[in-house]
Amino acid sequence: MNYFPAFFDLKDRPALIVGGGEAAARRLRLLQKAGARITVVAPRVGDEIGGAIEAGRVAAVRRGFVSGDVNGQAIVFAATGLPAVDERVAEAAHTAGLPVNVADHAGLSSFIVPAIVERDPLVIGISTGGAAPVLASRVREAIERLLPARLGRLADFADSFRTAVKATVPNAAARLRFWDRFFDGPVADQLLAGNDRGARDRMLTLVNGRAAAEPPRGGVAIVGAGPGDPDLLTLRALRLVQRADVVIYDKLVGSGVLDLARRDAERLYVGKSAGHHSKSQDEINALIAAQVQAGKRVVRLKGGDPFIFGRGGEELAYLRARGIAVEVVPGITAALGCAAAVGIPLTHRDHAQAVTLATGQGRDGAEPELDWATLARLDQTLVIYMGVGTAGRIAERLIEHGLDPATPVAVIENGTLPGQKALYGRLSGLGWLVRQSSITGPALIVIGRVAALAGAATPALDSEPARAIAV
Ligand SMILES: C[S@@+](CC[C@H](N)C(=O)[O-])C[C@H]1O[C@@H](n2cnc3c(N)ncnc32)[C@H](O)[C@@H]1O
Repeated sequence: MNYFPAFFDLKDRPALIVGGGEAAARRLRLLQKAGARITVVAPRVGDEIGGAIEAGRVAAVRRGFVSGDVNGQAIVFAATGLPAVDERVAEAAHTAGLPVNVADHAGLSSFIVPAIVERDPLVIGISTGGAAPVLASRVREAIERLLPARLGRLADFADSFRTAVKATVPNAAARLRFWDRFFDGPVADQLLAGNDRGARDRMLTLVNGRAAAEPPRGGVAIVGAGPGDPDLLTLRALRLVQRADVVIYDKLVGSGVLDLARRDAERLYVGKSAGHHSKSQDEINALIAAQVQAGKRVVRLKGGDPFIFGRGGEELAYLRARGIAVEVVPGITAALGCAAAVGIPLTHRDHAQAVTLATGQGRDGAEPELDWATLARLDQTLVIYMGVGTAGRIAERLIEHGLDPATPVAVIENGTLPGQKALYGRLSGLGWLVRQSSITGPALIVIGRVAALAGAATPALDSEPARAIAV
């Protein structure tokens, strides 16, 4: 270790910044957060420091640095950008035995300022000992993504119950177990999800010991896994998947997403495909409820968004009816994922004033009963889910109801996944396009003028006669 990691308590302590520019302002921001009494020495200052001086938050000495400026300080920062001046500041601080940091000059500094992740009161400092500051900031970004925004709130919440917990759980080892259970349990979950009141009520029950005899209480979240690429998962989904005891997942959940679950988490497959159901919806509902009631943290993982053709609403209603609290985490639905993957803007000022998401499947795989006249309006984009088997008939109905047979279409298979394929054509040839391409993965159909804007689109214009729509 080149540097010893430590945190300074600078609350109400005198801190000196020499310099008035951007580097000095960065130090000023940090020192203000730490509650230091700050003095800035500089002949000229920039807007940010000037503002702080005017607001009376900072004392100013408007001249060049003299060695005596370090007297009485607890910590010193040099950030003038002038090597000779910074060197003099460092020397004066070293002579006075004060910790000193010189911006961008580790050699003159007795300490360095790490990259910081802040979830106040939780603060994480990251340092590569000056070897690779860019790497430190990459690590910082990675940690930023991992830690919930409300983690600081969680720390404050725990702090507000510290005395009460100490009084009710006097044994130190038992207290440790209590806090372990707290940070892993439903109170912390509720707080991180923004339900402060629910968390407080539950915590009071816990602290009052009434929960001690209760069986462990699980929780369930219905989570959108996005269209397949694990990078398209939301941060909330990632956290829940990583903490889950059980992941109950569908056919369309990519293996890359499942890999993010804990190694010891149970993975229960309940996938369905047209005409072949491994489990009925009733069985799936009952399975989820049973897992939660057994005290497990359950993530019900669904491809795309749970509320877009995902039957998430039915599962939510079933669980709520049994008094089970459910969190719902949205996911990127296939329409958005696929459109982005091929560069189709679903709305466009010139081409589409609305977008409609529709199912291509009626009951038992038959043609869907849709309001064809409304869907055939020219100024919108129509996105069809589950429409591979009925594509020809859908095209036929739309044309019958007035949609131009030359309307551009795109068929995107395995959107956002490594095996992604996209086909482009005209509405009149949609049935043929789908039939001849032997689609095996999930596929989405986009109908509308925007389909011609796809980055890679080379529409097979007029390549197929209208009779190809006959099925
Ligand atoms: C039962 S729906 C589920 C939709 C999902 N809840 C969503 O929001 O994307 C399944 C249909 O979504 C579409 N789909 C899902 N993932 C897809 C992908 N990666 N590429 C293309 N289409 C996809 C296909 O039309 C598939 O038949």
